[in-house]
Amino acid sequence: MSETILETKGLTKHYGGVHALEDADFILEKGEHVAIMGDNGAGKSTFVRQITGVEQRTRGTIVFDGTEVNFSGPLDAREAGIETVFQTLALADDLNVPDNLFLGREKTMFNWLGPFRILDYKTMREATLAGLEKTAVKIPNIRNTIANMSGGQRQCVAIARTATFASKLTIMDEPTAALGVQETAQVENIVRTLKEQGESLILVSHNMRQVFDLVDRIVVFRRGRIVANLNKDDTDGQDVVAYITGAKTGAEYEGAA
Ligand SMILES: Nc1ncnc2c1ncn2[C@@H]1O[C@H](COP(=O)(O)OP(=O)(O)O)[C@@H](O)[C@H]1O
Ligand SMILES: [Mg+2]
Repeated sequence: MSETILETKGLTKHYGGVHALEDADFILEKGEHVAIMGDNGAGKSTFVRQITGVEQRTRGTIVFDGTEVNFSGPLDAREAGIETVFQTLALADDLNVPDNLFLGREKTMFNWLGPFRILDYKTMREATLAGLEKTAVKIPNIRNTIANMSGGQRQCVAIARTATFASKLTIMDEPTAALGVQETAQVENIVRTLKEQGESLILVSHNMRQVFDLVDRIVVFRRGRIVANLNKDDTDGQDVVAYITGAKTGAEYEGAA
């Protein structure tokens, strides 16, 4: 029997009169990789922002790892074990790789010094190298600041956080939208590694090839609603596009998984 890592019921977000997300019932099983697809403005990022505590939902419930959760902010979600990689990278340009990985959860030593705690750089560097190794990402010098890195390297650092902290759920919102072919391939390899490690993953993507290469299931959003929940093996690109455009409606949709 599979176990559920994430379940939303009736998840809804209105921005004033804009119904960005309406009644989303969504289930993710442990170890499962699911893609969220949909046209621009379909509500994909809004869905992600409600789950990750970036915004407060209008209504609905979120159960994460067996507990109903109300994250007050993204750090709350991260502490609970949700790592998020956004299209616009949430990395600090002026910091090096370990500092970025440990941002908000720095390792310290001599904690009895109270407010004068000392950052444990050695431990942070070692954990960083271990995390990067898991993702097979090559960063020439982790002491370089992020500002000097390519888009692909930056994205890999963001994703390496997931591997470093053994999170329970990784969410990627269009992680390769701004990347070149080779960098995209590198990110996709990390996703495969995460699958092998049993990590649960939600991948928001427009890239049909990528989605069919990487995930088990495809959930389609349209105008703020979930309109299809498709096993990869029972569907094809044409079918998915039909749901995205509304040529095919969600009459067959019977709720998540
Ligand atoms: N902060 C906001 N204020 C008002 N409207 C928003 C806000 N964020 C998103 N929206 C609207 O919500 C809808 C869904 O947006 P979004 O979730 O970004 O879609 P997607 O990620 O699928 O492209 C769009 O109509 C968008 O304009
Ligand atoms: Mg989006």
